[in-house]
Amino acid sequence: EQIEKGGYDHFMLKEIYEQPNAISDTYRGRIRVAEGIIKMAGIDDNLAKLLNAKRIIVIACGTSWHAGLVAEYIFEELVRIPVEVEYASEFRYRNPVIHQDDVVIAISQSGETADTMAAIKLAKERGAFVFGVCNVVGSSISRETHAGAYTHAGPEIGVASTKAFTTQITVLSLIALKLAERKGTISNSDFHYYLQELERIPEKVKDALESNDHIKLIADTYKNARNFLYLGRGYNFPVALEGALKLKEISYIHAEGYPAAEMKHGPIALIDEQMPVVVIATKKGHYEKVVSNIQEIKSRKGKIIGIVTEGDETVKRLADHVIEIPETIEFLTPLLTTIPLQLLSYHIAVMLGKNVDQPRNLAKSVTVE
Ligand code: AGP
Repeated sequence: EQIEKGGYDHFMLKEIYEQPNAISDTYRGRIRVAEGIIKMAGIDDNLAKLLNAKRIIVIACGTSWHAGLVAEYIFEELVRIPVEVEYASEFRYRNPVIHQDDVVIAISQSGETADTMAAIKLAKERGAFVFGVCNVVGSSISRETHAGAYTHAGPEIGVASTKAFTTQITVLSLIALKLAERKGTISNSDFHYYLQELERIPEKVKDALESNDHIKLIADTYKNARNFLYLGRGYNFPVALEGALKLKEISYIHAEGYPAAEMKHGPIALIDEQMPVVVIATKKGHYEKVVSNIQEIKSRKGKIIGIVTEGDETVKRLADHVIEIPETIEFLTPLLTTIPLQLLSYHIAVMLGKNVDQPRNLAKSVTVE
């Protein structure tokens, strides 16, 4: 097992550090930046079906569901198709309205999650075209779906999903870009620029990983907190949810993720000097609004950990700590903002002596209801 961990103390840390390669493995062979081409067999073979979809319904659980939420923002922005994101466990037990021209995208790292599988079967029975995004090659979900795209993240052993999340977002971005280009909902020059930016992400993830020691110090400061709040807006609202999930599943600290503006409708009552609040405040995407959310937290004496764009001075003045990430285009920011949140929960869990790779009560793939 030590050999499999490749010199890292835990699989989770190894998998966090594998992300630059995992992301490039996901798009390698699928994009030709100079020519402006995205080639994905599962998409190319079913292009008409996907282009004519009136609606996309994403079904998934846990972290994969969070990747689906990011995809909702990306697809609606770039492709202008309405997207609904459903917990597979809810979808399968209500009587969902599914039309023949709906496309269902099922997302699952393991490809074995029982609720997601049952939801796929229901969608197929009702006549929808079901597209799978899986990591494990030959998994049950990859076989049950009509077509699909693998994430090519390599084996993920840690129960807490890390590289699965970022590679799912990468695949979903590729699909959205391909459809947007075909539908003409983005310009040719934007399409080229977005592809170039995607190709720069692995290097930027490496830069984000450089903050590891700084994050360790922040983890040490807050490891005994009883609660954490995570806030983000737009593309980074799902990242706030994912950051909170990561912390609770491996450190057993209660954490909640919220859209930053929703704070004033309830969670603000929780804020006092004991409450660390992780705020994703990158320069792109409602930055001014997030800054005013930070001021609200500060005036209630909450402890602010800001995830900011390199060189940010405004949030630095207001926050107790900032963690910098490189700049990128807005819809790709989740690939970077999620990195410090993974490291923060990892270090807190290690400092608290928790079983990081196999947290209590959890299994890597949930094959029962
Ligand atoms: C994430 O860290 C989890 N352990 C969990 O939420 C997981 O994402 C969920 O069970 C879905 O798994 P899947 O992607 O294999 O379907």
